[in-house]
Amino acid sequence: MITLQLNGKTLQVDAAPDTPLLWVLRDHLGLTGTKFGCGVALCGACTVYLDGQPTRACVTPLAGVGARKVTTIEGLDGKVAQAVQAAWDTLQVPQCGYCQSGQVMSATALLGANPRPSDADIDLAMAGNLCRCGTYLRIRAAIHEAARRLEGLS
Ligand code: FES
Ligand code: FES
Repeated sequence: MITLQLNGKTLQVDAAPDTPLLWVLRDHLGLTGTKFGCGVALCGACTVYLDGQPTRACVTPLAGVGARKVTTIEGLDGKVAQAVQAAWDTLQVPQCGYCQSGQVMSATALLGANPRPSDADIDLAMAGNLCRCGTYLRIRAAIHEAARRLEGLS
């Protein structure tokens, strides 16, 4: 059994230490908001936080998590996350939706670190999150919208 700090709870997981965190979340714990896209750290669909840092769950072995706090899309909260989710809703960002939990995780981390990102800041921070539906312009607009909401401007 391996102990995991997940979304504010302490859990015991019965999985091999080299099991990717993504499969522990999805298959062992039923948290299917975190998606499998590429499995090799190239698409961002599996983005979770480890101690608040966006991390690719598909290439993170369970044993590599240690005592760090894991946050998934299901456990994302706080005013930045709420502003991002409201902006996503207002601008109807998703198309198929498959990449979007990873996009929201990365966007929330960006705005947590940089409350007023430029287009270039957004493009850089979001470059590791691919969207086959090409929602990039709506993602960028929604991040600006979330920043405005956090400033109380919209
Ligand atoms: S599934 Fe992890 S980066 Fe693509
Ligand atoms: S919304 Fe379909 S892959 Fe991004």
